[in-house]
Amino acid sequence: MRSYGERFPIFQSHIDLAHGHWARIVHPGAVVVDATCGNGHDSLALAQLALTDEQGHLYGFDIQSAAIANTHKRLQENLSQARLERISLHCRSHSHLAEVLPKDCRPALIVYNLGYLPGGDKSHTTMLESTMESIVQAQMLVAEDGMVSITCYPGHPEGLREESALLELVSALCPQVWNCCHHRFVNRQRAPSLLLLQKGGYGWC
Ligand SMILES: C[S@@+](CC[C@H](N)C(=O)[O-])C[C@H]1O[C@@H](n2cnc3c(N)ncnc32)[C@H](O)[C@@H]1O
Repeated sequence: MRSYGERFPIFQSHIDLAHGHWARIVHPGAVVVDATCGNGHDSLALAQLALTDEQGHLYGFDIQSAAIANTHKRLQENLSQARLERISLHCRSHSHLAEVLPKDCRPALIVYNLGYLPGGDKSHTTMLESTMESIVQAQMLVAEDGMVSITCYPGHPEGLREESALLELVSALCPQVWNCCHHRFVNRQRAPSLLLLQKGGYGWC
């Protein structure tokens, strides 16, 4: 039997990669943000890492009321009442991140799973301009040592624009402040990729 159990390969998708990194950054009692709630899979994973009955908070955003409703339902089915009270879901664009989060709120992790809901209306995909606006706010808001995690979907035209623009933005960040890493499956054409930005790796410039 393999030492890592039945699951092989151990990183089957960008989601496996992302969740492994999130678990290293988020401790119980942390503040976390899901900037694209969708069907709530990521929100639930974040809530399970960050929330206790007494501490932590999850802020969630999506522009579709159906996505907020689906996320709420998934969280309700899986979390205690005390933890549900530590969650705020907003049917708003993540470009309002700084406006919605309480002043002095410094999330340990801000997560973007870009694109559109699988099986949903593709016209509700994330768009380059509002994504960039939000990512710039996330960079300012995220805690020292915290992380911004962005899953990009270059398999569709807007997703490819987003990935290219984000890579350009991130490539120019000061390496004394930001530790940036781009994971992609090199033998899968246009597969989703994972962009991670950790703040404060080497001290301030
Ligand atoms: C790939 S799905 C997210 C999947 C989700 N994280 C999950 O675990 O199910 C992308 C979501 O982003 C949402 N979205 C698009 N533009 C947005 C924006 N400007 N602000 C917030 N959410 C947005 C879409 O409505 C869609 O639900």
